[in-house]
Amino acid sequence: MPGKFYITTAIDYPSGKPHLGHAYEKITADCIARWHRLLGEDVFFLTGTDEHGSKIAKKANEAGKNPKKYVDEMAVFFKELCKKLNTSHNRFIRTTDADHVKVAQGIFKKIHDKGEIYLGKYSGWYCPECETFYTEKDLKDGNCPTHGRKAEWISEESYFFKMGTYTQKFLDCLEKNPVAILPLGRKKEIINRVKADGLNDLSVSRVNVPWGIPVPIDEKHTQYVWMDALINYVSGVGAFPPESKDKLKRFWPADIHLIGKDILWHHSAIWFSILMAAGIPLPKTVFVHGFINTESGDKMSKSKGTVIDPIGLVGKYGADPLRYFLLREIPFGQDGTFSESALKERLNNELANELGNLVNRTVVMAEKYCKGKIPKGKANPALQKKLGLEKIKGLMERLELHHALGEIFSFISSCNQFINEKEPWSLFQKKAREKREGPAYKHLEKELDNVLYSLADSIRVISILLQPFIPETSEKINRQLGVKPGLLKDCEFGLLKEGAKVKKGEVLFKKVE
Ligand code: MSP
Repeated sequence: MPGKFYITTAIDYPSGKPHLGHAYEKITADCIARWHRLLGEDVFFLTGTDEHGSKIAKKANEAGKNPKKYVDEMAVFFKELCKKLNTSHNRFIRTTDADHVKVAQGIFKKIHDKGEIYLGKYSGWYCPECETFYTEKDLKDGNCPTHGRKAEWISEESYFFKMGTYTQKFLDCLEKNPVAILPLGRKKEIINRVKADGLNDLSVSRVNVPWGIPVPIDEKHTQYVWMDALINYVSGVGAFPPESKDKLKRFWPADIHLIGKDILWHHSAIWFSILMAAGIPLPKTVFVHGFINTESGDKMSKSKGTVIDPIGLVGKYGADPLRYFLLREIPFGQDGTFSESALKERLNNELANELGNLVNRTVVMAEKYCKGKIPKGKANPALQKKLGLEKIKGLMERLELHHALGEIFSFISSCNQFINEKEPWSLFQKKAREKREGPAYKHLEKELDNVLYSLADSIRVISILLQPFIPETSEKINRQLGVKPGLLKDCEFGLLKEGAKVKKGEVLFKKVE
């Protein structure tokens, strides 16, 4: 039985159309999921939308729609985004899905029945933008520290989760699992915050927000939206219905929760405490990616008109160039900048000139010099040595996606250099001359066959390695080489079968002005 790997993204608020930050998270999660499939693992990749709460209800109201109709319409844009980006998710969960609602209520009840939830009164600050409670000290001039929006004062009856009793247990579990939160700087931030302030009991229900999952023990209340949303990670792999419990057993605990830095507190302190209270094992790693900012270094903002539309970018450049740009340009785990001119530069120089040309030149030469068939040949040992396969594996293991991609492209450069050094066109001409005039013909033919075999075999390996990053391109390369998609174990040189039919296809990347 192969190992399992379970990865999740945050579930997006469908309170507006998806932006490039949402796309970035899905692309990076997809790359990791696909890499683990290449390793031969049984992968489950979950993404979706977070559809309840006051923020969504307000947006629906502004649009003059009932909230369910509103989220039904908005979720379509997020599903479309996944399709356009070519993500390989196994499920797109919506928190309005009936199975999720049952699980969210089940977990609330379980924690309540254990005596860890009590009825009280919440009086304090709340930011409806991130659906988060804040203390006076947290606010900046009365505004939400994350969104800069005015916080609202709330005073109402509420159920509370005794999160305050989990301070030490939470610190202990962070200590026990070195990779509980990555990058490590983020883990330190959380540890420092908890050591300084401890955890407080958490309001987990609202009486004045009807658009939510009813609290199972008191239907006057709805579940606090984070007490609903976080639970998607277990409901998404089948905590309900009971017949799908095997799937839960198979995939839980999650191997990676991939999230942005603004929601780390919710995914560490709150989520871990809920899981401990419910007696559910903790996820292995919460990985925090950086934020994509605009070229001027600002956050994307609707009011400033600086929101970047990923669907428009895919329409203009294609999914793979956008995936490639984001995966290569932004060191994974750090903030980065989106610039259309930098995307074009990478598309023209790296995708079209380096990768596109390598594939095109090789296929054209195989058609011209070997009648479109992979010749019998030996992979060139000097070229093989240029591929840092173990290094790439290590980089992917450490989630240094940008470095791994850089390493694959360094091998692509070596292959282009190999063509320039070996000059297969000269070998072909010499061979033709010798065939008429001299005895060295057989030797030249063999050399040409070896060069072309090495190139085609290397491209086969490159195509496997690129599959997690630019899957559509990888498929196109496979079709041109006449090979089936491979796994990581097939990245051994010399596995390309002689006689495979090579066929020039459409150009892989068109250059843009
Ligand atoms: N609904 C919550 C998450 C609940 S998870 C149980 C939420 N939604 S969101 O739509 O605001 O954000 C979804 C994800 O996108 C989050 O991980 C967030 O950090 C990420 N990003 C939002 N803006 C971003 C950028 N500008 N850049 C990169 N990622 C960003 O929070």
